[in-house]
Parts: sequence; structure tokens; C-alpha cells
Amino acid sequence: MCGIVGFTGRLQAAPILLDGLEKLEYRGYDSAGIAVAAGGGARPDGTAEGGDARPDSTAEGGDAQAAGSAAAFARPDSESAIEIVKAKGRLKVLREMTDDGRSVPGTCGIGHTRWATHGEPSVVNSHPHCAKNKRVAVVHNGIIENYQDIRARLTKEGFTFLSETDTEAAAHLLDKYYSGDPVEAIGKMMFRIRGSYALGILFADRPGEIYAVRKDSPLIVGRSEEGNFIASDAPAILRYTRDVCFIPNLEIVKLTGTEIHFYNVDQEEVEETFSQVSWDTEAAEKGGFAHFMLKEIYEQPKAVRDTVSPRISEGHVNLEELGMSQEELAKISRIQMVACGSAYHVCMTAKYMVEQTARVPVDVDLASEFRYRNPVMEKDTLVVVVSQSGETADSLAALREAKKLGYRVLGIVNVVGSSIAREADSVFYTWAGPEISVATTKAYSTQLAAVYLLAIGLGRAKGVIGEAAEKEMTAELMRLPEKIERILEEKERIQWFANKFSYSRDIFFIGRGLDYASSLEGSLKLKEISYIHSEAYAAGELKHGTISLIEDGILVVGVATQSGLFEKLISNMVEVKSRGAYVLGVTSYGYYSMEDVANYTVYVPKTMECFAASLTVVPLQLLAYYMALGKGLDVDKPRNLAKSVTVE
Ligand code: M6R
Repeated sequence: MCGIVGFTGRLQAAPILLDGLEKLEYRGYDSAGIAVAAGGGARPDGTAEGGDARPDSTAEGGDAQAAGSAAAFARPDSESAIEIVKAKGRLKVLREMTDDGRSVPGTCGIGHTRWATHGEPSVVNSHPHCAKNKRVAVVHNGIIENYQDIRARLTKEGFTFLSETDTEAAAHLLDKYYSGDPVEAIGKMMFRIRGSYALGILFADRPGEIYAVRKDSPLIVGRSEEGNFIASDAPAILRYTRDVCFIPNLEIVKLTGTEIHFYNVDQEEVEETFSQVSWDTEAAEKGGFAHFMLKEIYEQPKAVRDTVSPRISEGHVNLEELGMSQEELAKISRIQMVACGSAYHVCMTAKYMVEQTARVPVDVDLASEFRYRNPVMEKDTLVVVVSQSGETADSLAALREAKKLGYRVLGIVNVVGSSIAREADSVFYTWAGPEISVATTKAYSTQLAAVYLLAIGLGRAKGVIGEAAEKEMTAELMRLPEKIERILEEKERIQWFANKFSYSRDIFFIGRGLDYASSLEGSLKLKEISYIHSEAYAAGELKHGTISLIEDGILVVGVATQSGLFEKLISNMVEVKSRGAYVLGVTSYGYYSMEDVANYTVYVPKTMECFAASLTVVPLQLLAYYMALGKGLDVDKPRNLAKSVTVE
């Protein structure tokens, strides 16, 4: 989704904006732009001196076309104190156009990477958007749902719209309402727009000031000795500060180089607290790996260890952070899980795991379905929302729906302070650290670990499992990181296979029970980064239609780790093989009869069957990674995808 960065302070803004936007590239984008306000020139050392030091040069800087990307440059008009540069395509185009930001002087600015929703990726649709004479410039993340209505009304009033975006409506509304008090204009605009938004705003006659406001789209502010920042995600500003505040929903912020003020929707000043981001910049860098995805695959042992070990002491699972007594846990009669994408697959795994371990029925819904289906739920249902980012629009809406219906909500979330973390009744953090790659790997593994802990704790509270079983399970949980390490040591086996099959057209993943849940994740991972069509099937379902697609040479990946289902899965593999499929078997050491059927077999260490998903997912992640690499694709920035889906 779109990325936002803003800076005001003692340093030149444009290089900081470009640097920050680069850190947000992982969120997905198709164009980028910056707006820098005049006021506050630069000393040669990069720090600012007082007064307007805008050079005569217009900083037009070269050809606006670069490497297949259309680009445009907005020459500042004489009345305007805001200079805007925008480009379609990669950030490097914007860098080239601005001489790495040096040709756009000024110490206060906002920047944006756009992931097109309304209107094609183009220069005119890219942000910042402004009102006439660049009195106001705006960057936006989210969707303004009633923009057409606003657009129609404002057009009648004489406003001219240049782009197809919803964002431009906000810029013109601000222009309309602005009569010297930015907070008042923003407050009035908030009453007119519906939908979700995180906005960074410059007013041409307020040099050195950035305004920001958010509703349902994430935005943080950061402060440092050199100046203050806004950003849609912490990695954008980690190089400069770790002292951040997640802007509460519906609050307006005013930033100068030295001060930050928060206002509620009634425009009254309010106090907010800052906290320290515990990750360092290194955690958000590639650290020698070719891609973030590979780095994050390798970080899984640590991420799982960090998530599991603080919650286990002397073989006992500690769920105190849920804020529920053992009696309250024992009273839970049903669990309703909601999530999107990979987090939804975690919920599918949880269904098998929790039902077996705690004998509590688990319903699983896609958040986008749950939020509109007016669900029928029992009184003592616990709603569990799983989300890495904690900002996924559908998951957040599902959480609010559940709370509105009066249910207790538990969030399993990776990003501390995110919207889901703040709005859930209890939070169970996954300690994966920052996950940059669009394709989730380590966050997924920690979510699995979190649901295991929940299942064991619940099983104990309900008396379904005893002390000995709990000890056995927690001991094995603690061994999972080392087993993942062993799989990674043998990665060449899967790498070789992936290279051989990277030009496959269709791939099917089949499994039963927990292995079906893992197949869903393996299939999603593959299609999102390698663009190979793939489907996952509960193996027993194959012959009810899909088997007609099996033909000579098609690759079928069979995942089989569950003893009670192993033979059944083998039969399904025989069925596809006899119709011409090439079969890759993924199983645990010990199940050597897999080799009688599979053309190629990958083994993972033996573990308790209920935890097998944590191991089988690793070769499936590597398969997707190396297939995408084999096709020469940009693994960390797959087309059309965004890391954090903050719009519906
Ligand atoms: O941040 P969330 O966990 O809520 O995100 C949910 C999905 O968008 C996410 O898991 C997505 O499917 C991943 N790109 C899959 O790798």
C-alpha cells in the first residue's frame, strides 16, 4: 500500500524523504513524489539556516523520462512556496530527477509512494496532490469512499480536478476550508470525508510546518534532535529516530522542527505518549542476504524462539498477558478466528490444533467475509484476529464488528502499537521483528507458534490435557527453532528442484488435515512471488473435479506428515501420478515409503504431528523463493501486491 514520509527540522528534507520512501518500497508502489516547502535554506553541511534560501534554479534537473517510466516534473510556479516532483515507476527515477534530493531545497516536506487504487499508475495520479496555486499539498494512504460526491460538488463550486484520484478531493476540501487555521480546516474536512485515510499535509503559507491526520490507516510521528517526522511505518525513519508515537485514530498532529502537538477531532489539544521502537535499523536491512524474504526465512528460528520461550516456564504455558483467569479460559465455549491471506492459513492450522488439544470448536472466517456476514455466535465465544501488520483493513473491521456484537477479542499481532493491538481486548504479540518482504515467512511461523501456545494453555485450563502432556508439548515447541535450522542447512535440495521447475505453468499442492492448511500456505507463497498459477486442495477433494486438470508433466506437491492420514495421501499421490503428474513429496524423516510414489522427496525433521506445519512450511517457502528467483523476478516486490493491505 501507499507509503508516507514527512520531515521538518534542521536538515534538508528531500534526501530524507527519498531515503524514507526507499525503506517503504516493500509496501508496494507504482509511482512516487515529494513536496518540499520553501523556508529554511541549507548550509553546505546539510543543516538549515534561517530564512528562505531558495536558489534561483528551479531544480528542473534533466529528462523526465527514464528507463521506460514516464515521469514529469512540476516546475514551481512563481506564487507557490511548495515545490513538487513526481515520477511514475521506481524511486530511482525520482532520485535521478532530483539529484538525490539535492535539487529540491527546503527543510520541510512530505513524500509518498503510491499503490494505485483510483486511476492508473501515472504522474498525474501520483501524490502529492495540491489545490490551486499549490496552497495546499497532500499525500494520502487509504480510500476516500465518497470522493465522487465531493468531486461533483466542488466542481460545481469552480474547483478544477486534474487527476482521477480520491485524494485530490481532500486537497480541494482543505483549500476550501482553509482561512489561516490548518487544524480547523482539517477538522472540517474530516466531517466531510468518509473512508480511511492517513494524510500528510503542507500549507504553503505555514513554512516549516507539517500537518497529519489519520482514520483507520496507520501513521506514526517520530521526534529527534534534528527535527520531527511522520511515516506510515517505522522503518522509514528508524535511521533518524526510534522515539515514536502511533497517532491515535481521528487525531490531528501539527509538527514543526522542534514541537509536536496533537488535537482531537474537536480541535482541542491532547497529550500523547511516545515509545521506543525496539528494532534497530539493521533489523530492517538485508544484512548480506540477496533478498529480505531469504533473510526472513533464515530469521525464523530466532523469531519462533523469541515468541515461544518467554511464554514457557518449567514446562508450563503462561497466558497471563491475555488478562484472563484460568476460569475465564475454561469458560470459552467456541473460538471464532478471522484473518486474511497467510494469517488465515494460520487460523486453518489453529482449527485442527486447538480442536484436538483443547476440544473447543473453532470457526475460521476470512475477515473480508466475516465483517459482512452478520455471524451467529455463542455467548462465550472468543474472537481471535490474527495479523502481522495489525493494520489490515478487513481484519480491523472484523475486530470492530466482533466488539460491536459484544464479544471479547484477542489479537495475535506482530506490530506493537498497531490498530488491532490497540483495539483488541487482549494482545498476544508475535515477536518476529520487522518483516519487510511482502511474502510473509517469519511472521507466519511466529503466528503458528502463538496458536500452539494458545491451544496448549486452553487445553490445560479446560483439563483436556494434563501436566505431563503439557510438558511434553512445550519441550517439543522449544525444539522447533533448532529443527527449522536443520531444514535450512539442507536448503540446496529444494533449491535444485526449484530451479528445475521454475518455468512450470500450473502447480497443485495437496494435503490432508494439518497438511492441507500447510498446502494452502505453500500455494499462496508460490503464486504471490513466482506468478505461477497454483492451487491447494484437500487431497480427498481432488477427485471431485480438479483432477481433470492433471495432465502430463504437471507438478503436484504432496504434503504428508500425519500418521493417520499418510496412507490416504499416498493413494491420492498415486492417482495424480498415474495421470501424468510429476510428484514432489514433503514429509517427515521416517516416512520413507514416500519415495515409492514421489519422483522427488524432501524430508523435514520429525516432530509432534500437531507442530508439523512449522517445519513443512520451510521447504515450501524455499520452493517459492527459488522458483521466483529462477524466473528472475523481484522477490521482495511482487507485482500488484502490498505488504500491508490497509484498504478494503
Ligand atoms: O498483516 P496481515 O497479517 O494482516 O496481512 C494479511 C495478508 O495480507 C498477508 O498475510 C498476505 O497474504 C501475505 N502477503 C502473504 O504472504
